[in-house]
Amino acid sequence: MSPFQLTRTLPEDATDAALRADVRSGLTASPRTLPPKWFYDAHGSELFERITELPEYYPTRAEREILLARSGETAAASGARTLVELGSGSSQKTRHLLDALTGLHTYVPVDVSESALTRAGQALAAERPGLRVHALIADFTTSLTLPESPGPRLVAFLGGTVGNLLPDERAAFLSSLRALLAPGDTLLLGTDLVKDEEVLVRAYDDAAGVTAAFNKNVLAVINRELGADFDPAAFAHVAVWDPEREWIEMRLRSRTAQTVKIPGVGLVVDFAEGEELRTEVSAKFRKEGVRAELSAAGFALSRWWTDEQGRFALSLSVVRDDG
Ligand code: SAH
Ligand code: AVI
Repeated sequence: MSPFQLTRTLPEDATDAALRADVRSGLTASPRTLPPKWFYDAHGSELFERITELPEYYPTRAEREILLARSGETAAASGARTLVELGSGSSQKTRHLLDALTGLHTYVPVDVSESALTRAGQALAAERPGLRVHALIADFTTSLTLPESPGPRLVAFLGGTVGNLLPDERAAFLSSLRALLAPGDTLLLGTDLVKDEEVLVRAYDDAAGVTAAFNKNVLAVINRELGADFDPAAFAHVAVWDPEREWIEMRLRSRTAQTVKIPGVGLVVDFAEGEELRTEVSAKFRKEGVRAELSAAGFALSRWWTDEQGRFALSLSVVRDDG
């Protein structure tokens, strides 16, 4: 068993304060919104893992196909001694990268979900003697501090999770990531691609209702953490494609006129019948858009790989030496 270390970069009450601030501002805004990071308590993380196995949810399988084919090239191009993974979740697909990165010294999985991090980190440390696993409970959208470890670093941000950030959040995130890295470091980024509306909507509104349960889980989180009285059955799961902004939106639509109390933030929220609360955007990308966003943040795209059906892309970028 190799060393496993878990570091919480923010105290637990900072997470509580962040949830309260997001609920207060999001539920008093018009239209109402909540950031997607609050889906991922232990149950939400389990629901996400079930989503990855659904027949309609292609991104995980497509990205795994690319990783299987391209991890060797990624390892050779990066020469990484440290792998940092943002939003690592179960770290399942990461195993292909870890297998290929033969000179790796440290793996740093970063996630807000303590349950997912602990389970994945302990399993990896047990499986891979000689690999140091230093897990970070952290929000990658706020200032990240990485542990001391040897370079070069490869940052993997898989699953298309970058698409869950809004465009201005993405730009800020990519720039602060660049600021953490040094010339010679690399970024492996997974991005889901624009495709047929029907395929996209099905991926976010599956027949078995797992995505609906995942979406509604944010209400259970607010009930538990803030003493709220949301009735998840009083909301319908909605997934819509926005063709202008090229993103899927997940929403919760109030089935009736209803009032919800959220004592933890002293709010009473009236929902009109049919009123919607946006819980997630999942942006879909095109190659030139990805290249431009990376370039604006100081990364130069060097490889672009898709699965055979062209549904999903993995890109490898190098830190530009001009910042
Ligand atoms: N990378 C995995 C998991 C994707 S699910 C895969 O490709 O299958 C998204 C993951 O990102 C979840 O584990 C969630 O807890 C984490 N996450 C979401 N927002 C986050 C944030 N702001 N900071 C850190 N982790 C976050
Ligand atoms: C984590 N993220 C990339 C997923 C996505 O596809 O946007 C989250 C998800 N939402 C609904 N299904 C899966």
